[in-house]
Amino acid sequence: MENKKVALITGVTGQDGSYLSEFLLEKGYDVHGIIRRSSVDYRERIAHLEGKPNFHLHYADMGDSMSLVKLVGKVQPTEIYNLAAQSHVQVSFDAPEFTADVDAVGVLRILEAVRTNHLESTCRIYQASTSELYGKVEEVPQNEKTPFHPYSPYAVAKLYGFWIIKEYREAYNMFCCSGILFNHESERRGETFVTRKITLAAARIAQGKQDCLYLGNLDSLRDWGYAKDYVECMWLILQHETPEDFVIATGVQHTVREFATLAFHHAGIELRWEGEGINEKGIDVKTGKVVVAVSEDFYRPTDVVNLWGDPTKAKNELGWNPQTTSFEQLVEIMVRNDMQKVAAEHVAGVMRTNLAEYLEKGLVK
Ligand code: NAP
Ligand code: GDD
Repeated sequence: MENKKVALITGVTGQDGSYLSEFLLEKGYDVHGIIRRSSVDYRERIAHLEGKPNFHLHYADMGDSMSLVKLVGKVQPTEIYNLAAQSHVQVSFDAPEFTADVDAVGVLRILEAVRTNHLESTCRIYQASTSELYGKVEEVPQNEKTPFHPYSPYAVAKLYGFWIIKEYREAYNMFCCSGILFNHESERRGETFVTRKITLAAARIAQGKQDCLYLGNLDSLRDWGYAKDYVECMWLILQHETPEDFVIATGVQHTVREFATLAFHHAGIELRWEGEGINEKGIDVKTGKVVVAVSEDFYRPTDVVNLWGDPTKAKNELGWNPQTTSFEQLVEIMVRNDMQKVAAEHVAGVMRTNLAEYLEKGLVK
């Protein structure tokens, strides 16, 4: 009988962790996830999985080696997906040391937890690397051979994660790999990342609950894919014959402005853009009102402005289709979700957190 596949996911409560859990449960895995204690017990993205017989949650923290060593020993995973991170680039400028501890040293802690439990030859490890490694880009589009030039405390921490994974692969012959994933979004995306911030604001403005959306660099280019499609790749990377690193992207790029134009369109608002730089405005063609404005609060000390991935290797060697969900479909899915979410809040009379208001006023990045 084939041995049971046991996955341990760090970052299980995040966008990717929730989709990956669903994907692996569907494949018959025992799925174990790491959660952190929080003053509010709020695990919205995985609430629908809790109680399933093959889904298990454990308290641990990426900053706590002993908790990781004990957990890896207890769970005896055959695959580890290391998704946990302080994942917000702008926040990494405010909390650089914490970001380094979790996003850089945390990777080392996972690797050492596997070695301490003598699982080097039986446990495969996936590391959530990022297109942010290309940072101040040295070529477009970016592939597995493009030089790195990290451009934020987050990216510098992730660069350590990338290299320590490679080092353990070469030094100890471990099956550990990085997926260099370009931006991937969904209706479960955190509300302060630019796409979700836009789709939620478009829905709120369309329903008369917000006046204006404040954004930073509208010219920034991203290669945006759908998170649900990308978690399949994480799994495919660990099923590959040899441990290798892969770029995962759609191969298509758009500006933040284009994303906003399309999102507002799906919310029923046609935008006209006027002005330049900090004075640029998105105007509702029908009412003449300014519904998008630029705020310096959302500019970063150093910003990555031209990400565009070349997924050829993943396509050829993993058989993955980078075009499963198009940019247009992605924006539509997200706006449809947020139109319903905002409307339901209205109907139920639910008091939302103040996040939308804070976002509008620029108090939260
Ligand atoms: P996310 O939604 O921000 O989720 C991050 C996860 O990490 C959450 O479950 C969070 O737990 C957990 N975490 C943070 N600090 C932790 C700690 N000290 N101990 C244990 N868990 C901790 O991120 P995502 O979008 O799903 O991304 C998943 C991974 O892929 C991250 O490593 C990210 O850097 C990387 N990545 C993301 C993208 C993208 O476009 N989404 C692209 C490339 C790479 P709480 O819920 O308790 O906060
Ligand atoms: N968050 C945010 N908020 N970004 C804005 C805003 C705004 O109001 N206005 C413009 N932007 C620009 C940012 O300056 C950046 O150039 C771009 O929009 C995307 O920002 P985010 O959505 O915050 O994502 P990110 O690209 O910085 O980081 C995400 O993708 C990485 C992969 O490239 C995160 O998921 C990282 O964890 C991930 O590694």
